[in-house]
Amino acid sequence: MALEESTPNSSSIPPIGLGLCTMTAELIADEEGFYSKAKKYWKNIPPTVDGMLGGYGHISNIDINSSTRFLQRFVGEGSGKAGVGCALDCGAGIGRITKRLLLPLFKVVDMVDVTESFLAKAKAHLGEDGNRVGNYYCCGLQDFIPQPQRYDVIWIQWVIGHLTDAHLTQFLKRCQKGLRPNGIICVKDNVSHDGVIEDEVDSSVCRDLASLRSIMQLAGLHVLAEEKQDNFPAEIYQVYSLALR
Ligand SMILES: C[S@@+](CC[C@H](N)C(=O)[O-])C[C@H]1O[C@@H](n2cnc3c(N)ncnc32)[C@H](O)[C@@H]1O
Repeated sequence: MALEESTPNSSSIPPIGLGLCTMTAELIADEEGFYSKAKKYWKNIPPTVDGMLGGYGHISNIDINSSTRFLQRFVGEGSGKAGVGCALDCGAGIGRITKRLLLPLFKVVDMVDVTESFLAKAKAHLGEDGNRVGNYYCCGLQDFIPQPQRYDVIWIQWVIGHLTDAHLTQFLKRCQKGLRPNGIICVKDNVSHDGVIEDEVDSSVCRDLASLRSIMQLAGLHVLAEEKQDNFPAEIYQVYSLALR
């Protein structure tokens, strides 16, 4: 998913569908092509932190530090808080987030990604702590079914733009079933200012907050918290974290 902001090309499309929001169904004519083009794109990206972040590897620290603070509000000791048993990293890539955010907080972390070479690289990238990765699932999120009631936290970062609205809604519903008591889903991603913007290069979309909130509502999820990332470079998309249950 490109972090750099591109020019909207959907502004002429009248808003229909999810309340007042543009839907991916209006933009993506060839669904199979949408997924296969993205798969091909990622296959050719180097398995590095810089590759994961589209050349913005230097913002990884800021990202992880903010995510840690955000997640710690919902995880650990205290009533209503999620446990620290098991987390799932969705669209995990080489494990940038697994290594720095999830393995330090959870006993076991599972990873799922569509790109086999990234998961293969993760084993080296994670070092010794990688022993605590429970499962490496090579699968598109549109097809992935999290094991019911396994996860305290399901972290989904910089990957939802690779799913159509319908697939994202269904995936979030399956994630909800994958949660343990008090478990949460966190979505952290680029957010456009207005409408849904296509990226033809990596075959993804960037949604605005209204579209995201509609999808989450359709999935039956309640937004516990919403936070805008600060201190990212000015030229990239704004990034939001949402905690859901
Ligand atoms: C921008 S990278 C982000 C990686 C990781 N979340 C991070 O922040 O470091 C996007 C990742 O999503 C994966 N991906 C793309 N489409 C996917 C899909 N349909 N299902 C699962 N993973 C997908 C890519 O292989 C890549 O690892």
